[in-house]
Amino acid sequence: MNLRLYDCDDEPRVLELLATGLGPGRLQRTSAAWRWKHEQGPFGRSYVLVCEDDGQIVGLRAFLRWRFERDGQHIEAVRPVDTVVHPEWRRRGLFTAMTRELVNRVAEDGVRFAFNTPNSSSRPGYLKLGWRDAGRCPALAKPQWRRLLGTAHGGHDDDAGADPTVGGMLAKLPVAVARPDRFTTPRTAAYLKWRYADAPGIRYRLLVSADRTAALVTTRTRRGRWTEERICESLILGAGGDRELLRLVAQLAHESPAHFLTAIASQSTLERSLLVRSGFLPLSAVGPRLVHRGLGEGSGAPSPPPWALSAGDLELF
Ligand SMILES: CC(C)(COP(=O)(O)OP(=O)(O)OC[C@H]1O[C@@H](n2cnc3c(N)ncnc32)[C@H](O)[C@@H]1OP(=O)(O)O)[C@@H](O)C(=O)NCCC(=O)NCCS
Repeated sequence: MNLRLYDCDDEPRVLELLATGLGPGRLQRTSAAWRWKHEQGPFGRSYVLVCEDDGQIVGLRAFLRWRFERDGQHIEAVRPVDTVVHPEWRRRGLFTAMTRELVNRVAEDGVRFAFNTPNSSSRPGYLKLGWRDAGRCPALAKPQWRRLLGTAHGGHDDDAGADPTVGGMLAKLPVAVARPDRFTTPRTAAYLKWRYADAPGIRYRLLVSADRTAALVTTRTRRGRWTEERICESLILGAGGDRELLRLVAQLAHESPAHFLTAIASQSTLERSLLVRSGFLPLSAVGPRLVHRGLGEGSGAPSPPPWALSAGDLELF
């Protein structure tokens, strides 16, 4: 068995392993999606390890590079994603060995911490390796009663492919100011374009106030028989933006064909209080569970992490 760095020639075999071992995801298991995520991101190429046995790739460990901003400082982070071991190779310690190996490599590169939202199969593995459970990300939902009760037409998921115009429109907005006291993803034009215009096969919508002080980025997904319109970003871009954001949420609630509007917004943030004022209800039992781990001496994320993560920071990863 050979544990080594990923090479671009591995791509077809890696995609095959992802399709068999992880199954379908919201982002399709295509070459375009793999490259978008791991090669074209604004924070640099992912760290990727593969485990090979007799020419077959049986394990994959990919750490997507991420960046946070806090108090004007950039903090380099990684997020383990696309975690998969071939079914015939599971429960033999491969995930554990690959995670240890990659953690050591990225720590040497000055990366400060790792975080992700694993599922119930891999979370115990992270916790065994000393990662800390930061609980559920604070989710909110607003039922669209007119849709749920059938007095207006229900929605449909509209994944008709990426909308390239979103990137151009986002690039013209003033750069969103990060919250000084929290770990936030720096929402630069390059990041927003990559995230919401270039993600293959996924359509995002943009609502901007007339004075350009507030914007919403949303996407629709299906959950069983219900359609959800997820607010990926609620951006306050200038003075008076809080009032404009309330207007945009009301506009979204009026126009969206979805049964529920959903969002993720950290406690004690302006975004969260505006969503609650707009009729969003806090949901304590849903929302992805976050785990994290500091890399290197004294470099971990404080606990509880003062993060302000949006749904757009979390979905697809
Ligand atoms: C999750 C996965 C990567 C684990 O790989 P693995 O090589 O089998 O993991 P390891 O052998 O290193 O297991 C380490 C620990 O993780 C936990 N673990 C592993 N698989 C688990 C499972 N299916 N359910 C619950 N805990 C599990 C156990 O605590 C295990 O320790 P133990 O075997 O001593 O009890 C593998 O099962 C997989 O590819 N699953 C399908 C894809 C997937 O769900 N990926 C995670 C996406 S977030």
